[in-house]
Amino acid sequence: MIPALMVVRDLLPAAALLIVSMLCLSILLFQLVTGVPPFSSTALEGENVVALLKRAGLAEGAMVYELGSGWGSLVIALARAFPTAQIRGVEISPLPYWVSRFRTRNMPNVLLSRGNFFDCNLTDAQAVTCYLMTNTMPRIAELLDRTLVPGTPVVSLCFWFREREVAASLERSGLLGAAALYYWPAPRRASPNAQP
Ligand SMILES: C[S@@+](CC[C@H](N)C(=O)[O-])C[C@H]1O[C@@H](n2cnc3c(N)ncnc32)[C@H](O)[C@@H]1O
Repeated sequence: MIPALMVVRDLLPAAALLIVSMLCLSILLFQLVTGVPPFSSTALEGENVVALLKRAGLAEGAMVYELGSGWGSLVIALARAFPTAQIRGVEISPLPYWVSRFRTRNMPNVLLSRGNFFDCNLTDAQAVTCYLMTNTMPRIAELLDRTLVPGTPVVSLCFWFREREVAASLERSGLLGAAALYYWPAPRRASPNAQP
């Protein structure tokens, strides 16, 4: 065998290991930056979100934003449940983003972009979904206050907007999987501690 090819062959396992390590490291780095781990929603949690959006009467062809779309599980559940809707996922972490791009490659009603959803203009949103963390919720509320058309349905999975009035909720999979529907900007609550 040509010596150059032998060198390439010998280096391949090390190069593959380096790439995998860097991708894993990128997950940790982005989790540190955002404070949100890339957990996937379960099928049952996805059903809860879909059921709440159906209850909100999502219009034909609606634009739905999935903030922090991770590995794509919720985007896929939404795209299947609302085939005429446009599902826009925004994800900052590269590995989950590219995996979700691969998973949704044959779904024409899904558009994924990599970036920070705090830079998003949500004025064309007819619904918003998110599954984030307690400490992110106040900043998300500010983003929604700034950019959403009043009355837009927002469904938050697992972590709720503690200071806002919930219009409906589903807790079929226990407290962790509980989903809450709000019509934004939802009225402020008197006692913010009674929700997940
Ligand atoms: C708990 S996961 C939820 C994934 C997905 N929504 C689901 O239900 O399967 C939250 C995701 O939000 C992403 N995220 C957190 N902050 C973000 C930001 N500012 N911009 C874009 N993505 C963000 C994280 O990288 C993570 O993948």
